[in-house]
Amino acid sequence: MSTINYSEKIPNNVNLGEDRTLQRALEGWQPNFINWWDDVGPEGSTNHEVYLRTAVSVDPQGWAQFGHVKMRDYRWGIFLNPGDANREVHFGDHKGEKVWQDVPGEHRANLRRIIVTQGDTEPASVEQQRHLGLTAPSMYDLRNLFQINVEEGRHLWAMVYLLQKHFGRDGREEADALLQRTSGDANNPRILGAFNEKTPDWLAFFMFTYFTDRDGKFQLAALAESAFDPLARTTKFMLTEEAHHMFVGESGVSRVIARTAQVMNELKTDDAQKIRAAGCIDLGTIQRYLNFHYSVTIDLFGADQSSNAAIFYSSGLKGRYEEGKRDDDHVLKGQTYKVLEVKDGQLVEKDVPMLNALNEVLRDDFIKDSVAGVGRWNKVLEKAGIPTRLVVPHKAFNRQIGALAGIKMSPEGRVVNDIEWAAKRDEWLPSSEDFAFVASLMGRVIEPGKFAGWISPPVMGINRQPVDFEYVRFG
Ligand SMILES: [Fe+2]
Ligand SMILES: [Fe+2]
Repeated sequence: MSTINYSEKIPNNVNLGEDRTLQRALEGWQPNFINWWDDVGPEGSTNHEVYLRTAVSVDPQGWAQFGHVKMRDYRWGIFLNPGDANREVHFGDHKGEKVWQDVPGEHRANLRRIIVTQGDTEPASVEQQRHLGLTAPSMYDLRNLFQINVEEGRHLWAMVYLLQKHFGRDGREEADALLQRTSGDANNPRILGAFNEKTPDWLAFFMFTYFTDRDGKFQLAALAESAFDPLARTTKFMLTEEAHHMFVGESGVSRVIARTAQVMNELKTDDAQKIRAAGCIDLGTIQRYLNFHYSVTIDLFGADQSSNAAIFYSSGLKGRYEEGKRDDDHVLKGQTYKVLEVKDGQLVEKDVPMLNALNEVLRDDFIKDSVAGVGRWNKVLEKAGIPTRLVVPHKAFNRQIGALAGIKMSPEGRVVNDIEWAAKRDEWLPSSEDFAFVASLMGRVIEPGKFAGWISPPVMGINRQPVDFEYVRFG
């Protein structure tokens, strides 16, 4: 018999202690989660005490409590934003009806699929990032990596809670399978492509947290509109944590650019080889990493035309980003949206039913949001007096999913033939030589306040601590 009292061990605001069946299900799953963490979580980190924020409740005092903890003892918990007893479905065919506290039979399969797909991304990113702690550019960055890792672990808990509470035996099986698939595994990979890619170095990590965690933001925001209220309340709370992940990405890339710009000015050069020789990452390499992570991430939104997207919306399972702020009818029947296709070797726009294009709508919202941060990166270059600008590639560049999959396209959006693609590929996407160079810079800098030579220090520390604070105590 287990002596663990989960109603205390797992911080939660869902009255876990009152639901014996659920408690037992989580009791069965929890040791498997810890085994998973030990097997494929952050490598060599077992004895580190990390200055982490831990959520102990969803109110402003409770959701970000800081202190040094061993990650294995991090109190992964289950938090739902407070419910609103009068909340109504506000889009789709059920608009105006009361939201659901349990899963309606007819939507069960689709909701399970949505929750499993979201849940699968959470442990995947931990697996992708598991070696990065060995090459952290600073103790500050190491802490941020670990913060993201434990929170992705908590996001997995959030989805597992929904599966185990609302989907019976199927849900328990899906919860187990979430710990069995592994990022990049040939036989049992993660569900979505971007989550099977490698995150081999810290530039890739920053690009991933800027772009791919932002995909998380948009998916979670769309699910936060759901008529299935427990899903809406769970994802709303997850969004509070996601903001920090994107901050790590945006500020990380920004600091890489700042350091490169500084060295370019010191050496009075824009020659990539000279910049590399000085131990910094040239802007061309940064642009190629950006092209890769952007294109792989926008694939995550799915096919540009999708009957599933229409069903998810009309059934009330998944809304649009900021559904409540839009002033249309929230039913969208008879409306159209523009998607791209290739005709006679040219990209053309065509109008399709908006309900079928909702993946594209969400992708376009993501693109607007992403571009804004790239503009802030360019400000760093502008301030340093460097004329080069980073740009996001065309939406059709390097796509593997939807109508644009397999089309060879330059980053500017020109259809190219196989010969030109082969000749230019290494100018447009990171080459093996780029990866080897960036890898060569990755050392381990872990003295408080010290930073690797290819990245600038941050402007300020975490939770108002100084930059040279001892964010990680090595056991
Ligand atoms: Fe997450
Ligand atoms: Fe995240």
